[in-house]
Amino acid sequence: MARNPRLFPANFRSLSLIFFLSLLSVNQYSVSGHDYADALRKSILFFEGQRSGKLPPDQRVRWRRDSALHDGATAGVDLSGGYYDAGDNIKFGFPMAFTATLLSWSVIDFGKSMGAEHRNAVKAVKWATDYLLKATAVPEVVYVQVGDPYSDHNCWERPEDMDTLRTAYKIDRAHPGSDVAGETAAALAAASIVFRSRDPAYSRLLLDRAVKVFEFADKYRGAYSTPLRSAVCPFYCDVSGYQDELLWGAAWLHKASRRREYREYIVKNEVILRAGDTINEFGWDNKHAGINVLVSKEVLMGKDDELKSFQLNADNFICSILPGISHPQVQYSPGGLIFKAGGSNMQHVTSLSFLLLAYSNYLSHSNHVVPCGGRSASPALLKQLAKRQVDYILGDNPMRMSYMVGYGERYPERIHHRGSSLPSVQAHPAHIGCKEGSLYYLSPNPNPNVLVGAVVGGPNSSDSFPDSRPFFQESEPTTYINAPLVGLLAYFSAHL
Ligand SMILES: *[C@@H]1O[C@H](CO)[C@@H](O)[C@H](O)[C@H]1NC(C)=O
Repeated sequence: MARNPRLFPANFRSLSLIFFLSLLSVNQYSVSGHDYADALRKSILFFEGQRSGKLPPDQRVRWRRDSALHDGATAGVDLSGGYYDAGDNIKFGFPMAFTATLLSWSVIDFGKSMGAEHRNAVKAVKWATDYLLKATAVPEVVYVQVGDPYSDHNCWERPEDMDTLRTAYKIDRAHPGSDVAGETAAALAAASIVFRSRDPAYSRLLLDRAVKVFEFADKYRGAYSTPLRSAVCPFYCDVSGYQDELLWGAAWLHKASRRREYREYIVKNEVILRAGDTINEFGWDNKHAGINVLVSKEVLMGKDDELKSFQLNADNFICSILPGISHPQVQYSPGGLIFKAGGSNMQHVTSLSFLLLAYSNYLSHSNHVVPCGGRSASPALLKQLAKRQVDYILGDNPMRMSYMVGYGERYPERIHHRGSSLPSVQAHPAHIGCKEGSLYYLSPNPNPNVLVGAVVGGPNSSDSFPDSRPFFQESEPTTYINAPLVGLLAYFSAHL
């Protein structure tokens, strides 16, 4: 469906401008105002449903129970805890670290708009970082995954019943993974900012670990999908290379520590590690746009002109998302949703919208606009575009449904999620074996456990949504869809 901009007619500019304005106008699908505070609360609650390990007494998602308590035992280490990435029961370290980085960024930039939800957001960060600390406890080793994905995907089992292979996969000096180690360093550094005043000792622990993990990532270079190909591909295979995670890790370490060496690393490696590459992407694999927006804050606040090229890259990135302002490199569905091929589209929607909003704030604080060709994009415009995407998720769309489970009157009921679709341990205490779960997977009934706050992969490029478990690209939630959404919802709940 991706349309090539070169095929547009000569009056493309004015045509697309109309399209652009229609995207921004109080759109035709708009219901009434949204309850962003309610959506914020739910978007954070979702993370409790994804918890692995021993659940604490204040666990609010009560249909979940302890699970995978012996993770790591086969390797002689404790790797219990952390998050299941999506609708399966694997702990994939690469997207988990990215989730922690983006949750932290949400709290750092928008925590003051979270009200009573602030503490829940911080707990959601800590559930990830407590695990990442365990995964990086041995110097120059990072445990990057627990669970054999083929064994897991072959079954439809509750996490509480799991009897699949819980293999622990690691990287080390001889089998490096600068991508996952760089992202893990970024996550630990970003989280150290979240805990700086709240828990200084924990914050220092996170930052010290981030420094060590980054050193390992930089010194022993390689992509983790080389040594661990059969375990991580095609699930979270690193396609974009590890260079972006090295810059990203350094950028977060610079922000967290203010040490000159990280700034020098960024300046020295900007070209070598290709900061300007594929700038219209941002997700667990590709950090380029995020690096440029993050580093631009320094430039826009007037602190560091030597990093100016990052701002130029960030401007180009913003122009590439704005339809009608330049040749749009990012496509939109007819109903106005950012759309990228490849499945789980909402991850792109929330992460790109997050960058729009974060950058718009950096611009407003420094009285800047983004020059895009002959036009310019104001911070207010970027915010409107981000808000339009959030409103689409919450129900202003052709299906007139919310893509967040438990929010609004209509939402996905058959999400591709093992725990949500199988009866809870309380309702059905007996073990449900690997293949016994198929009955529930194939059932036309709604899931018995409502995973409140889960945002699914979302509609296809024609704005249609099947609400069916086998359509996992549309119906599966992931932690990295929600992590940036937490920041977006916080902002819009406080600034209407
Ligand atoms: C989207 O889904 C609808 C309904 O299932 C289907 O008719 C349509 O062809 C799909 N569009 C694309 C581009 O796959």
